[in-house]
Amino acid sequence: MAKILVTGGTGYIGSHTVVELQKVGFEVVIIDNLSNSNIDVLNGIEKITGIRPAFENIDCVDYVSMDRMFEKYNDIDAIIHFAASKAVGESVEKPLLYYRNNIVSLINLLQLMPIHKVKNFVFSSSCTVYGQPDVLPVTESAPIKPALSPYGNTKQISEEIIHDTIHANPCYQSTILRYFNPIGAHPSGEIGELPNGVPNNLLPFVTQTAIGLRKQLQVYGNDYNTPDGSCIRDYIHVVDLAKAHVIAVQRMLNHHTKNRVEIFNLGTGRGLSVLEIIETFEKVNGVKVPYRIVNRREGDIEKVWADPSFANNELGWTAKETVEETLRSAWAWEQNLANKAKEE
Ligand code: WQD
Repeated sequence: MAKILVTGGTGYIGSHTVVELQKVGFEVVIIDNLSNSNIDVLNGIEKITGIRPAFENIDCVDYVSMDRMFEKYNDIDAIIHFAASKAVGESVEKPLLYYRNNIVSLINLLQLMPIHKVKNFVFSSSCTVYGQPDVLPVTESAPIKPALSPYGNTKQISEEIIHDTIHANPCYQSTILRYFNPIGAHPSGEIGELPNGVPNNLLPFVTQTAIGLRKQLQVYGNDYNTPDGSCIRDYIHVVDLAKAHVIAVQRMLNHHTKNRVEIFNLGTGRGLSVLEIIETFEKVNGVKVPYRIVNRREGDIEKVWADPSFANNELGWTAKETVEETLRSAWAWEQNLANKAKEE
């Protein structure tokens, strides 16, 4: 069966994608510098699938190490590139860290692909590239607006680099997947979101508040032009998102692609507000999430949700999990983390 290189494969979305790849028989090699993930994730993957993926502790920014890695694993059929820094707020404070990490790692991979005869490249992008869309739901043909953060700008620049590189190298192809808001955890409870330090994203902060690790959730603004005043996002179960990556790889390996660069929105098509997420989380899990409304967060857009019809029709993929089930899985994962901490 084909061998897939997954950069950032011990991360949140990466680890869930490795599980889905292994489930359909792909052999997986993970490279990760563990800057924002934990090597114990390999145990979780192995517990779910019974297969421990090959792992190399490598920084994608390190060209020489990457070249050596491709020499060692010289039969890679496709790359899924997750490894990147992804905190919007942090990118505003440390732009050069984001440009170096996210852009140099991409350029290294694209330079090494023809040398090592790897022809298929899946890129982890984000709905952030749209900024605040003028029309909702947002389709792949929506205009790309000036980025609101260095993080978002790295995703826009990366997409342009991919377009130009694939145009210049006709025998290669790429699939760009624009994620909306991934949340939740694998139903086994063995892997999930593991942010280092204080979470930037909403869901881990909600679950850590519910379990008592955080005193109170801060809701960044309720004066937006939305029904309840809080921001709206398209929250998608991370396992649904992971499954789309498997389909994208199979599509390229089976030469079913229609263009050498294809772009897909990976969302549910359903927009939910911050306050709706909190209310639903409390209802399905029977817990309270103490919160208070504070000022808006710089860089936040007001509302975005996907029109996923292109991915639904072209990939034959649809996000299946309900938001209730997704929020239940997030809570189960947080409880598992707490139980593991007690055992240690
Ligand atoms: C969601 C909503 C916040 C925390 C970013 C990236 C995106 C993707 C996901 C990588 C917003 C509100 C949050 C909190 C809050 N990253 N919020 N209190 O900013 O939509 O997307 O992360 O794949 O590319 O752009 O996600 O979870 O940070 O915020 O009120 O403590 O929750 O204001 O409205 P975001 P988020």
